[in-house]
Amino acid sequence: MMSTEKKNEGKKPDPDRRAIIIGGAAAVAGVAAGIVIGSQAFPKLLTKTEVQPEVTKEVVPQYITKTVTQVEKYVKQLVANVSDFPTAGTTKMTTYMGYQVILIKTGVPSIGGVGPDNDIVGFSGYCAHMGYPLSYDPNTNCLLCTMHFSQYDVTKGGMQVIGHPNQYLAQLILEYDSSSGNIYALGFNKLVYGAYNNVLQGTTSGGVSS
Ligand code: FES
Repeated sequence: MMSTEKKNEGKKPDPDRRAIIIGGAAAVAGVAAGIVIGSQAFPKLLTKTEVQPEVTKEVVPQYITKTVTQVEKYVKQLVANVSDFPTAGTTKMTTYMGYQVILIKTGVPSIGGVGPDNDIVGFSGYCAHMGYPLSYDPNTNCLLCTMHFSQYDVTKGGMQVIGHPNQYLAQLILEYDSSSGNIYALGFNKLVYGAYNNVLQGTTSGGVSS
């Protein structure tokens, strides 16, 4: 029996067969390479672990509920009688809802004036600049502050004439009872110096029902 080598001796290699072999080998190599390359070509699915911030419970402060008694409105208060002012220039110091006030008979019809001649007016006794006590000057019909020398015209609703204040003086709203001559205060027309709320910071003492 002839060996295969012997059999093939002298034969020329078959080019088609060689091409098939080479092609097959190349195909196998290509598949293998494809697997490798393919595995690199597509991104891997990454799993990411996110750390969520911890939710902390907020501590709600506990407020203490307090019941406070508040004066909710101005009170009507008897502050003078017309007989207290016999002549022009007469004054009367008194208090209204705990605030120092001054009543003046100006002698001329005045803004906010009451009485037979509409010349009795009332004002806060505290300067609108820094709260210094005021005094009346009958010569000028002004309330004077000797702290920084401001003046308020009491015939013109407490208009500042000179000095530091940038507002009128708080004026009392007055009511006159012609049958009795009584003069009542009903409230202020603006804030009294030092008060953030005239009503809440005032008192009801001395008030009368309207
Ligand atoms: S306190 Fe009256 S002007 Fe200053």
